[in-house]
Amino acid sequence: MPKDTLTVTDNRTGEVYELPISHGTIRAMDLRQIKVGPDDFGMMSYDPAYKNTASTTSRITFIDGDKGVLRYRGYPIEQLAERSSFLETAYLLISGELPDADTLDDFTHDITHHTMVHENIRELIDAFRYDAHPMGTLVSTVAALSTFYPEAKDLADPEVRRLQVTRLIAKMPTIAAYAYRHRRGLHYVRPDNDLSYAGNFLNMLFKMTEVKYRPDPAVEKALDVLFILHADHEQNCSTSAMRGVGSSQADPYSALSAACAALYGPLHGGANEAVIRMLEEIGTPKAIGDFMRRVKEGDVRLMGFGHRVYRNYDPRAKVIKQLAHDVFDAVGRNPLIDIALELEKIALEDDYFVSRKLFPNVDFYSGLIYQAMGLPMDIFPVLFAIGRTPGWLAQWEELLSDPEQKIHRPRQVYLGADARDYVPLDARR
Ligand code: ACO
Repeated sequence: MPKDTLTVTDNRTGEVYELPISHGTIRAMDLRQIKVGPDDFGMMSYDPAYKNTASTTSRITFIDGDKGVLRYRGYPIEQLAERSSFLETAYLLISGELPDADTLDDFTHDITHHTMVHENIRELIDAFRYDAHPMGTLVSTVAALSTFYPEAKDLADPEVRRLQVTRLIAKMPTIAAYAYRHRRGLHYVRPDNDLSYAGNFLNMLFKMTEVKYRPDPAVEKALDVLFILHADHEQNCSTSAMRGVGSSQADPYSALSAACAALYGPLHGGANEAVIRMLEEIGTPKAIGDFMRRVKEGDVRLMGFGHRVYRNYDPRAKVIKQLAHDVFDAVGRNPLIDIALELEKIALEDDYFVSRKLFPNVDFYSGLIYQAMGLPMDIFPVLFAIGRTPGWLAQWEELLSDPEQKIHRPRQVYLGADARDYVPLDARR
């Protein structure tokens, strides 16, 4: 019977160590016993960008990047996209189980009745420059919510935590829509409790002079599915930011604002905006060959392609590709889809992409749908943030209830100057 251990020989000393293996991992702290002498700090592992380091155990989301599998709490993403709703999925992520009908009604009622924001929040958004990027507005406004709910600091009380979770899921679309309308110079539209989560968001984005806004059912459904597809993705950059800030026991608004800030970057949630800019720059299917040459020469990246975890087709991209056609049937075709389809076809047959296992990721087609819905590019990462909010909160809850977690504090390998004496200004060359 093989033993679940790893035997390590330190060739510097000849010492042999036996390290336990659990779930295919060794504990980095077990390396610390490996020393060359009593004053040695002990061995560490060096892993810039955490390419092979598990920072936590988790029971929320499973990804098999080689097979292109994504599951929330064990349920395949394809089934949730087809049969669940965003709020049901949010409940699943946070509580661990699908709700029964009464529980889902109560959860939906709670979220629906926390969508309003304090009038000071409206004034705060008003104070941003007329052309403020809505993601900048979102990051700051979510952080500002902590000043409205100071009780949120009481992390030990599960009821207090539950209320902040409800508030955040409920208020993200309101803040997002206000940020969008501020940028467009439009009046703010208050939430409409008769509408679904996605329907109300569309109402707050697009309502003009009509008495009652009625969302297009195909667009409402597509947005709900897009939120489901974005709802969690285990320990990605923004979730790690949420957990990192949360580990200092900051309130959830501050931690979630940090997660939004991480999402803002073009290598993460900003990629779908970058995809549209890329497709517009290419302009016509005829120009694809030239563009691909530049990608392969390392001049530019094919945005919406590649993923740290998926070395196969991102399962979310498959659902989104189909969804794009449903939305185009309802609101009209986005002409950039032809360039996207052709790019994908060429890339999937090109050795550069095949050998590096680069496939379309979630962002390759999502921007095309948002654009067809009439949304400007700079709100795309904001939509991602709305969808990801339940995932961030589920991960934050899991962090707080994990007895193994402490404040996050990575180590470093210091390569700087040795100790040296201060040189007065007039003595420096
Ligand atoms: N276009 C062209 N080449 C690429 C691409 C791309 N999109 N992505 C990776 N490569 C190449 C790299 O140049 C590198 O090639 P090399 O081995 O010859 O140097 C190789 O593939 C490995 O790339 P890394 O950058 O090491 O892969 P990493 O895992 O660090 O990066 C990332 C993943 C950031 C997603 C990357 O693929 C990328 O920049 N993609 C485009 C941006 C994007 O779509 N981001 C969205 C990700 S999904 C999300 O956050 C929701």
